[in-house]
Amino acid sequence: MKKYCDLLAMQNEHLNNQVERILQTSQMEKRFFPLETKIIILDLLIEKVLDTFRIDPAIEFLFEKKETGMCVLADEIHFTNALYSIVDNARKYGLGKSPVTVKLEKTGKHIKVRVIDKGPGIEKKHIRHIYHKFYRVATGDIHNVKGFGLGLFYVKKVCDRHGWKINVNSVPGEGTEVEITMPEYVQER
Ligand SMILES: Nc1ncnc2c1ncn2[C@@H]1O[C@H](COP(=O)(O)OP(=O)(O)OP(=O)(O)O)[C@@H](O)[C@H]1O
Ligand SMILES: [Mg+2]
Repeated sequence: MKKYCDLLAMQNEHLNNQVERILQTSQMEKRFFPLETKIIILDLLIEKVLDTFRIDPAIEFLFEKKETGMCVLADEIHFTNALYSIVDNARKYGLGKSPVTVKLEKTGKHIKVRVIDKGPGIEKKHIRHIYHKFYRVATGDIHNVKGFGLGLFYVKKVCDRHGWKINVNSVPGEGTEVEITMPEYVQER
């Protein structure tokens, strides 16, 4: 009971944040929409996001990390929403294929967060459009998975605003990997 109540509370918080996201979308047309950055412990935030998805027992959500306690400077609400959008895509376009894996890696002074699915992938000709507002890849004339086409538009804005790099690598028929590269925040002693 406690577990499900906690999940409900988390989903409630997430919905509030989604509303915030919509309200801020118009602001985001501006290059410098407001950010409230603070130190974020990445593994804790990723676990929190994945836990909200784990309510669906049909899909396994894995988290692979070599280290804990790695930090970045980020706006917690925007970053959480962005991560949620990417994992949500992996879940819904993966059409139930497990697992969805989040990998946390460090390369020099940078940290990479990669979200990997084993879904149908995205054809190369569509990749450069997926960050456009309202762009959705149609399968025939029908969208069998629902969405607004806003998720990656938002994710890209959030990454740009933080100065992070985002890359989507996809192999049709095999899966998709969305990778965000961000500078590690190292606390001065
Ligand atoms: N992991 C993925 N696998 C396959 N296709 C994807 C994946 N992620 C995104 N796409 C494609 O890119 C399009 C744009 O994704 P985006 O998240 O911006 O919009 P959406 O998921 O359709 O709607 P929203 O996120 O606003 O609910 C999707 O409609 C889908 O066609
Ligand atoms: Mg989406």
